[in-house]
Amino acid sequence: MFTTKFLSFILLHCALLSLVSAQEPASFNPWEYRKTFVTCPAVDRSGATPVPTNLRLAYLDINPTASKTLVLVHGWPSLWTTYRNQITEFSKEYRIIVPEHRGYGDSQHPVDLESSNTMYDFVDDVLCVLDNAGVDTGVCVGNDFGAQLCWEAGRSRPDRFVGVFNIGIPYVSATLGFSTNRALAALNPFFTYQVYLDEMEKPAAKELDSDIRASIRSCARTAETAPPAEFLTKNTTFLGPWKQYLKENNLTEIPASGIMSKTVEDYMVDSYSKQGFYNTFNGYQLGNRNLTYQFEIGQGNYTLPQPTFTLFMTKDPVSDWEEFAELIGSASFLSNHFNQTIETAHWPHEEKPVEFNAILREWLGNVTFSQTPGNGSAPGNGSAVRC
Ligand SMILES: *[C@@H]1O[C@H](CO)[C@@H](O)[C@H](O)[C@H]1NC(C)=O
Ligand SMILES: *[C@@H]1O[C@H](CO)[C@@H](O)[C@H](O)[C@H]1NC(C)=O
Ligand SMILES: *[C@@H]1O[C@H](CO)[C@@H](O)[C@H](O)[C@H]1NC(C)=O
Ligand SMILES: *[C@@H]1O[C@H](CO)[C@@H](O)[C@H](O)[C@H]1NC(C)=O
Ligand SMILES: *[C@@H]1O[C@H](CO)[C@@H](O)[C@H](O)[C@H]1NC(C)=O
Ligand SMILES: *[C@@H]1O[C@H](CO)[C@@H](O)[C@H](O)[C@H]1NC(C)=O
Ligand SMILES: *[C@@H]1O[C@H](CO)[C@@H](O)[C@H](O)[C@H]1NC(C)=O
Ligand SMILES: *[C@@H]1O[C@H](CO)[C@@H](O)[C@H](O)[C@H]1NC(C)=O
Repeated sequence: MFTTKFLSFILLHCALLSLVSAQEPASFNPWEYRKTFVTCPAVDRSGATPVPTNLRLAYLDINPTASKTLVLVHGWPSLWTTYRNQITEFSKEYRIIVPEHRGYGDSQHPVDLESSNTMYDFVDDVLCVLDNAGVDTGVCVGNDFGAQLCWEAGRSRPDRFVGVFNIGIPYVSATLGFSTNRALAALNPFFTYQVYLDEMEKPAAKELDSDIRASIRSCARTAETAPPAEFLTKNTTFLGPWKQYLKENNLTEIPASGIMSKTVEDYMVDSYSKQGFYNTFNGYQLGNRNLTYQFEIGQGNYTLPQPTFTLFMTKDPVSDWEEFAELIGSASFLSNHFNQTIETAHWPHEEKPVEFNAILREWLGNVTFSQTPGNGSAPGNGSAVRC
């Protein structure tokens, strides 16, 4: 409950904090933000017939009385904190909803990994969160796996997602046909880790769980702190190339890249410790990917009518996404589209937040938001405390 005593504690705490945070965004403290919980319908497809079930999902709802909403969708291995620099920048003007995907942190997961987590299940989770918050429409901002989710959200529900701004991953139309993870790895060796997470999910979870901090650091790199050349190219280990690197350089742990503060890293380690990595492999399983493809083909429409944007990183160790987007004719499915490059690795919104925020802000001028003011529907259990 939000007692007066608690409120004055927060206000005092916030006043003290703002003295620091003005000069030093590194002081972002994830523990200051409180989550809202909602129970959402889901489907368990592990048996012969699909069975309806429920999942208790967590999300952040920041500045819930603003009329325009940004939905910030995280990827893997990531968390809502990946958007800390956008939360601090945009939460004065926008309502910010940040879902915590099923299987991450405090969000429940259907027991079945293989086929109960299609992309439209993830979209339904986000819609359930928006419904609970009383939000009709918003802009979907995604990176990594979250970008795939935002593309599918924008394609299948243009009535709810009035704009789509994605980082890295271009729109991949189902007209291209279905590619298995192995086929994708044959095209680009840096997709091989997806074969590992898909086909050897139990050993992979054991490996990543054995050192959660190392697993997070292995991916949280900047252009200046690139991973070893063979990272992501192995189908029987994830951290193997890093272990080799440590040995060759007489190091005992993967050096932090500096992309996040120790506080944020500690928070991530804590969150990933709650369930481990296994459930977070749900976006890579062949069964889920195949069902997603069948669903898109079944709907039979492949274009996004609303304003879209893709930000292409030029130093991403995973892929040259701009080249990939050209190859698959991504922009031809997007009727109101802009794109730009940025000289960063995989997480530009963390690596170059000032430049990133300016790019997002400029593009947001293209979006027509419906002007229904937020009703701040969950003050008791959620309205995130921010300073
Ligand atoms: C806020 O919006 C939700 C969803 O539209 C609605 O169910 C709820 O009654 C609204 N609350 C208030 C206080 O208007
Ligand atoms: C695609 O089809 C689905 C199902 O008919 C529909 O809900 C959605 O609005 C369509 N998308 C677009 C962009 O027209
Ligand atoms: C795993 O990678 C090796 C080469 O590193 C290759 O020979 C093998 O076919 C791959 N296995 C799978 C399942 O992709
Ligand atoms: C690592 O340590 C070994 C043994 O002390 C030494 O021979 C080698 O030069 C060191 N390598 C590096 C990269 O520092
Ligand atoms: C995808 O699912 C369809 C329908 O169940 C099945 O026929 C097909 O073999 C599956 N494809 C792969 C690559 O698993
Ligand atoms: C970038 O956007 C322009 C204009 O819509 C488009 O012609 C071009 O193909 C896009 N580039 C990529 C890589 O999608
Ligand atoms: C639309 O987005 C582009 C790319 O960010 C930007 O240059 C342009 O100013 C935007 N248009 C409006 C009307 O805001
Ligand atoms: C949070 O509050 C909203 C609005 O008051 C309510 O609809 C929802 O059920 C609450 N969730 C939980 C988990 O208490």
